[in-house]
Amino acid sequence: TWTPENIISDQIAEIRSRVGDKEVICGLSGGVDSAVAAALVHQAVGDQLTCVFVDHGLLRAGEAEQVEKDYVAATGIKLKVVDAADRFLGALAGVTDPEQKRKIIGREFIRVFEAAAREVAASGDVEFLVQGTLYPDVVESGGGTGTANIKSHHNVGGLPEDLKFSLVEPLRTLFKDEVRQLGLALGLPEAMVWRHPFPGPGLAIRIIGAVDRQRLDLLRAADLIAREELTAAGLDRDVWQFPVVLLADVRSVGVQGDGRSYGHPVVLRPVSSSDAMTADWSRLPYDVIARISTRITNEVAEVNRVVLDVTSKPPGTIEWE
Ligand code: XMP
Repeated sequence: TWTPENIISDQIAEIRSRVGDKEVICGLSGGVDSAVAAALVHQAVGDQLTCVFVDHGLLRAGEAEQVEKDYVAATGIKLKVVDAADRFLGALAGVTDPEQKRKIIGREFIRVFEAAAREVAASGDVEFLVQGTLYPDVVESGGGTGTANIKSHHNVGGLPEDLKFSLVEPLRTLFKDEVRQLGLALGLPEAMVWRHPFPGPGLAIRIIGAVDRQRLDLLRAADLIAREELTAAGLDRDVWQFPVVLLADVRSVGVQGDGRSYGHPVVLRPVSSSDAMTADWSRLPYDVIARISTRITNEVAEVNRVVLDVTSKPPGTIEWE
């Protein structure tokens, strides 16, 4: 029978016997998958594990701090943080094509991570790399079934050949809800365990148009308001994920204060799902949507319109890019 405890003890035994006394590294993304995978490996091999967190500057408000402070405090894991925002934003400058954005972010991520991994490896005998790959990632990237790529998920299959790490993927057969149960059983902070899924390419694929610091700041402010109001309404666990999308190249006319405005729309994209393979738009209470809309248009200069995405998946995807 499936219990978190069974999975944990099986995985710990398997990881120990595979890894032995070798060193292991793990990239943390800020999300629940890599956090649970790393915590599991940490339980198995302790300080043989070093985690690397690449801050690509595309995270939401407060997320880098959550990894650097809360997660380390809860687990005692050894963490190396790389601030690579300038590099990522430089590489993304002027790029509007979604797949192009994903490829650039995937490529830069591998370069930065590789450099960090070499530094970690130089200090020890690193042979293993932990990845928080879930079953749906394997399927959607064609890894399990030979189906075509829908979007290039950079956390699967993109490792450099000359970095000869063996992969440790303790979550490869699991779905998100199972991973959360594991996280709770491993004693991770609830805020982290119940964190909504967030894509590796981050806010870059939630800005429709080119990515720059100013647009990221706008989107971060709008996104934070949506998250705050969802939490205040007690609805975090009723929603699978709640992307907020900035239509950065669209402007519409509005009236704000005593004058005409000509600002950008943001799209609210709350969805219900159990595994992200299919999804439906969440029927959030109108008063919650109204509060989010009022706050965003009052508090985020340059955003003068808030729209709700009422498309299921399929035919839509959860993310807009
Ligand atoms: P879509 O937009 O394809 O997203 O319906 C399905 C789920 O995957 C997440 N997502 C990603 N996760 N790297 C990730 O780690 C990626 O490149 C990526 N793209 C989408 C998305 O947030 C949703 O949960």
